[in-house]
Amino acid sequence: MCGIIAYKGPREAVPIVIEGLKKLEYRGYDSWGVASVSGKRIAVHKKVGKVGKAVSSEIRLKGNTAIAHTRWGTHGGITEKNAHPHLSCDGKYAVVHNGIVENYQELKKKLIGEGHKFVSESDTEVIVHLIEKEAGKGLKNAVQKVAGELKGRSAFVVMTAEGEIAASRKGSPLIAGKGNGEYYIASDIPAFLEHTNKVMYVDDNEMLVIEDSEIKFYSIATGKEIQKRTVEIDWKSESAEKGDYKHFLIKEIMEQKDTLWRAINQDESKIINVANEIKNAYGTFLVGCGTAGKVCMTGEYLFAKIAAKHLNHAIASEFPSYEPFLTSKTLMIAVSQSGETADVLEAIESAKSKKAKVISLLNVFGSTMMRVSDEFFIVNAGTEKAVVSTKATTAQLAVLTLLAYAAAGKLGEGKRLLLDTASAVNDMLNPRYEEHIRKLAERLRSNENIYIIGRSLNYPMALEAAIKIQETSYIHAEGFAGGELKHGPIALISKGTPCIALVANDHVKDETISNAMEIKSRGGYIIGISPENNDVFDYWIKVPDAGNASPIVNIIPIQILAYQLAVLKGLDPDMPRNLAKSVTVK
Ligand code: AGP
Repeated sequence: MCGIIAYKGPREAVPIVIEGLKKLEYRGYDSWGVASVSGKRIAVHKKVGKVGKAVSSEIRLKGNTAIAHTRWGTHGGITEKNAHPHLSCDGKYAVVHNGIVENYQELKKKLIGEGHKFVSESDTEVIVHLIEKEAGKGLKNAVQKVAGELKGRSAFVVMTAEGEIAASRKGSPLIAGKGNGEYYIASDIPAFLEHTNKVMYVDDNEMLVIEDSEIKFYSIATGKEIQKRTVEIDWKSESAEKGDYKHFLIKEIMEQKDTLWRAINQDESKIINVANEIKNAYGTFLVGCGTAGKVCMTGEYLFAKIAAKHLNHAIASEFPSYEPFLTSKTLMIAVSQSGETADVLEAIESAKSKKAKVISLLNVFGSTMMRVSDEFFIVNAGTEKAVVSTKATTAQLAVLTLLAYAAAGKLGEGKRLLLDTASAVNDMLNPRYEEHIRKLAERLRSNENIYIIGRSLNYPMALEAAIKIQETSYIHAEGFAGGELKHGPIALISKGTPCIALVANDHVKDETISNAMEIKSRGGYIIGISPENNDVFDYWIKVPDAGNASPIVNIIPIQILAYQLAVLKGLDPDMPRNLAKSVTVK
């Protein structure tokens, strides 16, 4: 998490990095800071809160070289002191950092013993003191030495009072951009895309130094120079705007009218080849985190039901427990919107170390996962700005459904089903539908708990529904497999407890309805999400009858409900508290 941007060139640097920082806010938004060099002096400006609210004219820093940072705190409270950039004791070095310095306690103790004064609780501060300590060796050698000493995944940028910039990447994203006599370093391309589309990818375990008007890349391990290609990115500058919508979240939910079509429109021969690889692999793992993890779980059900093929899903942070089963014949399918999630990247690294093949399902083109995977699919949902994932989720579900049908030798059937589903979603997303769900949100907004049940393909969606409601409304929400209820959770039901039942027209419909009955008998208030109404439902939200694509249609009303709950409770649906869009720490 955390977003980094640096600029060195002939222009006023601070407005450039502040604007860039606003494009990185999805990586964290609890506090931000900027430092620039003017007259061989580094000046810093930091604030708690979102950089989106910053007024450039209030930031009085000048100079042609600057670094900036938007934070998602890991070590130390959300305070100005803990915000980056951090300064060395002599004020001659400033550092911004993304990641975690796992051995910071030991390093800090040593540095304090050597006389360094710490002013924050942040793990990052050790980096700037270490740089100060090694500075006599020259900037390049200092960065190489310090990068080698840090444990954990991280990327950092150092700025000196002389106006030099250097950076290191070990496990967290970092990209360089080259303009006309100017350079940018950032966590992600959109941060500088309005200025240049010429990028140089910094790979893992590499560092760079910008001195005078030259940028040079080096291996952290050997210090040897690495020649880099400049790649021209064929993207338009980040244009995702809210348009007539009040929030990105509702805009992105509504965009599912289009995004499903785009997701399905994959290269058919690639789908068939990958489906064959899945069929022939000696063990396939679907790996992801959070919502993408629930998509992976749905994938396991989809392949079992449609292709009679057993795949394993694993939450990426738990994947180390499965590592002993990796061989060169294993296939890993990594699912990620951002393509930058640290736990997924670690799972990919371990798969690659065993020579297993890695195929990624991603939304962000050019992401780290795209570059480290053997093959990838872009799910084409377009920029997803809201922290709460919606359109990328259904796009991922659509591609996995296609793959499952292709693995069963029924790609045509799968495509027809998904095209019909896309068309039904298009009809479903209308203002009347939204209003019907808003009324439900009114009924639920003051509840302390909401439970969701589902079976088979819709069990992972019950878990995903809970994530949606938790993220936007801060209401305690929990998803259960319908059949598990009577093994414990039913004790939570009392008069009026809301329970959402995800019911598809499938082989588990009757059992799911029976589970809803069991809850109703104990006083529960049943909200049915289903193609047909049923006596057990106190509130019915109709969805299209989508067969094996039911996870796609069942999650959409929940996304709308989550949005409406946030709005009714006066919460920010786009940037919920404590979260970040891209989770680049473990
Ligand atoms: C979804 O609403 C969440 N914000 C979160 O669970 C997310 O899906 C997770 O962090 C994984 O992100 P990724 O898809 O970019 O890897």
